[in-house]
Amino acid sequence: MDTNSASAKSQQYQLFLQQVSQFAADPIDLTSLLANTAALLHHTFGFWWTGFYRVAGDELVLSAFQGPVACTNIPYGKGVCGTAWKESRTIVVPDVEQFPGHIACSSQSRSEIVVPIFSTPNTNALTQSHNNALTQSPWAVLDIDSAQLNTFDDTDRLCLEQLADILSNAYASLRSPIRDIYLAGGCFWGTQHYLSLLRGVLHAEAGYANGSIPNPSYEQVYTDSTGYAETVHVRYDASVLPLSKLLEMFFKTIDPTSLNRQAHDIGTRYRTGIYFSDPDDLPVIRHSLKKLANNYSDPLVVEVTPLTAFYLAEEYHQDYLQKHPDGYCHIPLDLINEVKNSR
Ligand code: SME
Repeated sequence: MDTNSASAKSQQYQLFLQQVSQFAADPIDLTSLLANTAALLHHTFGFWWTGFYRVAGDELVLSAFQGPVACTNIPYGKGVCGTAWKESRTIVVPDVEQFPGHIACSSQSRSEIVVPIFSTPNTNALTQSHNNALTQSPWAVLDIDSAQLNTFDDTDRLCLEQLADILSNAYASLRSPIRDIYLAGGCFWGTQHYLSLLRGVLHAEAGYANGSIPNPSYEQVYTDSTGYAETVHVRYDASVLPLSKLLEMFFKTIDPTSLNRQAHDIGTRYRTGIYFSDPDDLPVIRHSLKKLANNYSDPLVVEVTPLTAFYLAEEYHQDYLQKHPDGYCHIPLDLINEVKNSR
């Protein structure tokens, strides 16, 4: 591409980014935002296919797009999209036939660019400048296909990463800061007490998660035959305590390599787990566990699944350690005092 057409493209992008900034400034719905962004991008530049895939569990699922019918599911690490997700970086493919494992949704597609979109702006710039060190896991990727070879260059990459930042900001403003997460860390007496002390936690309640029968009692859960785990429902303010920080604090209280056992408590009801009600939390959970795994030589056995059931434990289990300050707690007192003193 000559200098004139490179600067024409850059100018076209600047205009495009201004337009997106306007409708992304006060978004009311994520799908509407992604749909309008895909439409504007597609028709401004005349691409072959322009759209988004969103992270959903272990795969990417097709979201808003413009162009021909496309593949709906892409596994983690597969194709260009799954690789950009796994490696948390933009991938420019000059010739799709040269990309090992490229997924051909259409035989007309010849070159491609995939840009990850993170929860925090500027993560793309960070990953590029820090030797591709992973800083965060994306919640979506933007995928653009061209019917010509060699369509995408550094101008596209830089401008589309700016677009990703605009979408990151919009995504953050759409999510309420008041969130819920369900953490199983062995005996719930200590876990509830400890988590309730963290600044940013609005309340922490002891209960039973992800078992098979309705309304389980403590005695039923104690048999270890109901599938329930002693779990704490945490409602927190993510603007004060982001999920990554909350998990970091939670991890201090568990041995994440110990299966169905924490300290003296043994049984599946004492397994460790992170149960989420919002699938958008999954990228953060994954990333936090990846970081945690670096501290251990044994594999982590913390269960991560969507929340399927949660029942509050009986009243006498709530705030147990406040009612019985000398009660059993597997969490070291030093850790509890450290949190108390930091408030
Ligand atoms: N080519 C992509 C799959 C998505 S389509 O291009 C719309 C890939 O290899 O991940």
